[in-house]
Amino acid sequence: MKHTKVKDLLNSTTTLQEVNAKGWVRTFRNNQFIALNDGSTINNIQCVVDFENTPEETLKRITTGASVSVIGTLVESKGAGQKYEIQVSKLEILGDSDAEKFPMQPKKHSLEFLRENAHLRVRTNAFGAIMRVRSVLSYAVHKYFQDKGFVYVNTPIITGADAEGAGEMFQVTSLPLDNLPKNEEGNIDFKQDFFGKHTNLTVSGQLEGETFAMALGQIYTFGPTFRAENSNTSRHLAEFWMIEPEVAFNDLDDNMDLAEDFIQYVIKYALDNCGDDLKFLEGRLLEEEKSKPQADRSEMSLLEKLNFVLENNFKRVSYTEAIDILRDSTPNKKKKFSYLINEWGADLQSEHERYLVEKHFKCPVILYDYPANIKAFYMRLNDNTEPGRETVRAMDILFPGIGEIVGGSEREERYDVLVQKMEALGIDKEELYWYLDTRRFGSATHAGFGLGFERLVLFVTGMTNIRDVIPFPRTPGSAEF
Ligand code: 4AD
Ligand code: MG
Repeated sequence: MKHTKVKDLLNSTTTLQEVNAKGWVRTFRNNQFIALNDGSTINNIQCVVDFENTPEETLKRITTGASVSVIGTLVESKGAGQKYEIQVSKLEILGDSDAEKFPMQPKKHSLEFLRENAHLRVRTNAFGAIMRVRSVLSYAVHKYFQDKGFVYVNTPIITGADAEGAGEMFQVTSLPLDNLPKNEEGNIDFKQDFFGKHTNLTVSGQLEGETFAMALGQIYTFGPTFRAENSNTSRHLAEFWMIEPEVAFNDLDDNMDLAEDFIQYVIKYALDNCGDDLKFLEGRLLEEEKSKPQADRSEMSLLEKLNFVLENNFKRVSYTEAIDILRDSTPNKKKKFSYLINEWGADLQSEHERYLVEKHFKCPVILYDYPANIKAFYMRLNDNTEPGRETVRAMDILFPGIGEIVGGSEREERYDVLVQKMEALGIDKEELYWYLDTRRFGSATHAGFGLGFERLVLFVTGMTNIRDVIPFPRTPGSAEF
């Protein structure tokens, strides 16, 4: 007999049929009621065991975490909160789980404890829900771009380029670390390395993506990116997934329109397709909120927050306007942000970004036209800016509770200006000859952005630590599994 997913059983339109379900025992009550979960939905199906006719030996083996197969009749349930249950006629233990040793007991575990058990935490309700939402969101990402005719491009993981110029790369080598070959100058001789040169893991697929946009028009990447930045925060991972669309002939305004439309689409898609999981996560958050002092509690529930983002335009604000707002604001009654930025040109810290989004505008914000010297080399220099106050057509999207979720820009399409910029920053033109070719042959205005996928999943699930929205997090000092 073929088994049926619990989700399909719970959505069944007919009862009194013989069904087979397979899954893992969440709880076993009164020697009679198994709450069975198979991962297809947050909901368990209750399996009622005929304990009088089941050997004592078998009953003992129905423990939390054990895998079982049950055959029985699907009937309407008299119990509260469930539509159907299975009256079990045949039960088979597929894999035992030692109740004394199984770490995922049916009780509330701390997120720290669960992080140490990343291979098992997915068996909890919360992590099952988060990982299903993550999967649906990644499908929505592809659906959005594919429906619009964007071409999906797989940019390389191993590359010689440092797209962001921040020097935060993991190096890749096949050289023997205990016997590194040296060149005449006494430096490591990367000519003898696998690729005949020095390489690293990609920090962004943008530069390669641009070469494809300049042929295919509209492209997007969606892949893993790596940053060896030593930021041990709840918003940074060393390995994270990024979505990077790049569109020929788009300018900065088009780029903002695309980013806003895209983010609203995928959030709506999750709301439409992850109802049960999001409701569960919302309930979890409400519980958590109760333990906080009234003043610190969120004004909106998770679903209200998600709907708010769909119903309200993102506020578009230039860097210069933002600095003026920050300079005049008093975030905690006494202290102004004066230690910041009396001077125009400073980079914004995450506390400033969060102030703008959470306290001042109270909605997602797109900050644009940043000072040129705090942004990457490839961004389009604005025309007619004051000397000493040059800005680039950059945009960052800031989200409540998250901070920066998107970074993007219109690109510098003028060969001469780009070369000048690279020279000023000491970026190797030979190494990036292929990138410069996009400007030498048929250059055009184009723009794109990168969305940090885990930051999106954080927002949609209402979780607060980025380690909890990726299956196996990599952070400084931690790469288990
Ligand atoms: O702002 P970033 O560095 O921009 C780029 O990499 C551009 N090349 C993107 C482009 O224009 N195609 O990174 C983009 C986004 C950030 O806004 C953030 O959401 C996410 O990637 N991000 C991280 N997410 C998790 N952990 C980290 N260490 C991250 N660094 C950036
Ligand atoms: Mg950024």
